[in-house]
Amino acid sequence: MTKIGVFYGSTTGATQTVAERIAEELGVESMDIRDIDPLELTDYDLLVLGCSTWGDGEIQRHWKAFLPELAKLNLEEKAVALFGSGDQRVYDTTFVDGIGVLYETLARQGVKFVGFWPVHGYDFRESKAMRAGHFVGLPLDDDNQPELTSSRIETWTKLIRAGV
Ligand SMILES: Cc1cc2nc3c(=O)[nH]c(=O)nc-3n(C[C@H](O)[C@H](O)[C@H](O)COP(=O)(O)O)c2cc1C
Repeated sequence: MTKIGVFYGSTTGATQTVAERIAEELGVESMDIRDIDPLELTDYDLLVLGCSTWGDGEIQRHWKAFLPELAKLNLEEKAVALFGSGDQRVYDTTFVDGIGVLYETLARQGVKFVGFWPVHGYDFRESKAMRAGHFVGLPLDDDNQPELTSSRIETWTKLIRAGV
């Protein structure tokens, strides 16, 4: 059986709320990255990692502090699914850049990404979370599209389950 861990970093609670919804769909608990030993991540087969974006395209601050430890872990062959909260209207040139930062860090560690997501349905100009016309994870925008969050989570969790 695939052991799934949902981990998030969140400043005002938006990403925490969606992490809890995603965890519920997957039948697991979600955990704040501040409460775990980075090594714990190696216990899971599928890591579902969520962050928000702050400043001018910076990854959320708890993740920023966590990244050096994350980069040291042996995560080869682990499945990783990324999600993130952002605001496509006000921050339309750095939309969910934090997802892109996580992707870049983990891509060097030989993980297998699952849960890429179409850009269709969003209205933004630039994002570091885009590769070859897709997002490398699931962007959620409760600031502008709260009505789409539930259905996006439902479709995405099915997609990542099918991918591992
Ligand atoms: C000062 C500030 C800067 C932000 N910068 C970005 C950004 O560059 N890109 C983006 O997509 N969202 C940006 N946002 C939007 C947040 O990521 C969004 O509100 C998110 O839901 C916050 O999630 P959290 O409470 O889990 O940290 C910013 C918000 C604020 C208040």
